[in-house]
Amino acid sequence: MDESLIDALRVAVTANPEQVSLRLHLARLLHKAGDRERADEAVAVVAAVLAVDPRNTDARQLLAMLLAPSDVEVPTPMSGPASAPIDASETSVPGPMQPERDEFDWHAAEFDLSPVSTRDDRFDIERPATRLADVGGMREVKQRIEAAFLAPLRNPELRALYGKSLRGGLLLYGPPGCGKTFLAKALAGELDAGFLSIGIADVLDKWVGASERNLRAAFDAARAAAPCVLFIDELDAIGQRRSQTRGSGLRGVVNELLQEMDGIGAENEGVFVLAATNQPWDVDPALRRPGRLDRTLLVLPPDLEAREAILRDRIAARPAEAIDTRRLANATEGFSGADLAHVVESAAEIALLDSVRTGTARPISVRDLDTAVRAITPSTGPWLESARTVLEFGEDDGTHADLKRYLAQRKRSRR
Ligand SMILES: Nc1ncnc2c1ncn2[C@@H]1O[C@H](COP(=O)(O)OP(=O)(O)OP(=O)(O)O)[C@@H](O)[C@H]1O
Ligand SMILES: [Mg+2]
Repeated sequence: MDESLIDALRVAVTANPEQVSLRLHLARLLHKAGDRERADEAVAVVAAVLAVDPRNTDARQLLAMLLAPSDVEVPTPMSGPASAPIDASETSVPGPMQPERDEFDWHAAEFDLSPVSTRDDRFDIERPATRLADVGGMREVKQRIEAAFLAPLRNPELRALYGKSLRGGLLLYGPPGCGKTFLAKALAGELDAGFLSIGIADVLDKWVGASERNLRAAFDAARAAAPCVLFIDELDAIGQRRSQTRGSGLRGVVNELLQEMDGIGAENEGVFVLAATNQPWDVDPALRRPGRLDRTLLVLPPDLEAREAILRDRIAARPAEAIDTRRLANATEGFSGADLAHVVESAAEIALLDSVRTGTARPISVRDLDTAVRAITPSTGPWLESARTVLEFGEDDGTHADLKRYLAQRKRSRR
């Protein structure tokens, strides 16, 4: 086996993490090398592809083969039967974008072996396979996403109506753990776009000007990967009210963010800015002006259907008895998605400890789940209470009308 080719491919994969075909080719070569260590590496390489793109058929097939008994031949592009000569006129017909295939002469290829800059490797662009249809329940939120974001993108007349503000983005806000990140990813999946998520830790740097540069680099990475959703998590930190930023070095970051969002000309074409926060009242108001994050969406605690979907997904990933997820969903009002995940994990822990104690493995039972539900306090209550205080005593520019309405309704129903 050509060790230098494997080495070259390892370097190439590090330099081009998004190139799936490179990774798969490396995995095939590693497998062909035949020894245990490299076989394991091959599995890890394919697993990394599947972690980003779980539906990638080539990767799934390859993984199945890698995990099959060792006498199964792994077809590679080079060892496959010679294909018929390709008619040049046929290949030049412009058609829908074809997924990348291994039609490359890997032995003749040269790779750039210069040291890889690690600076921008931080910006890992995902390709989410989740769609809005995978989001359980939350019908109202999905409808609003469709109306405020997707419809204008698809419809030229609406686009004209929205004008400049179509370039703007969407701010998701609400209690923690209720699906903001999940929805943003599903939206990227719906648009068939890449997904680049940044938080304050990716941006903040103690050196003067470095935070601004980091933020610019993130926007540049998103532009280079367009169509791409740039997801700014914890916007209350990155885009904090400038009146509160004195001395923290964050003022420049907010200014940079404003500049990047405004872009020049068609610069931001194909970049969709989504942001999320649990503290929308701490976000600088300038970020909400037209053409910036000019649409807001309240993401509330999961409704009955969403809770059932979350519980079903989580339980399905573990050995469990037949569980009435509808009943469990009914018993978990006010639980966030993260709380529900915690419920299932705690139930699994109970079953595991019990199995260890008795020496016989047993699946998660209805009782384990009920015990876990009783032990866990839903986390959304305190957030909703503090939101009420902020809205009652803070200044109100009408941006949180949805939340006000929800709080009033909740108060009535609890009387
Ligand atoms: N409607 C839903 N359908 C399926 N899964 C969901 C749904 N809503 C939330 N989840 C799951 O709940 C968990 C928490 O969601 P997520 O991380 O998106 O919340 P968040 O609002 O971004 O939280 P934070 O404010 O802490 O960042 C995730 O595991 C997500 O997959
Ligand atoms: Mg999140």
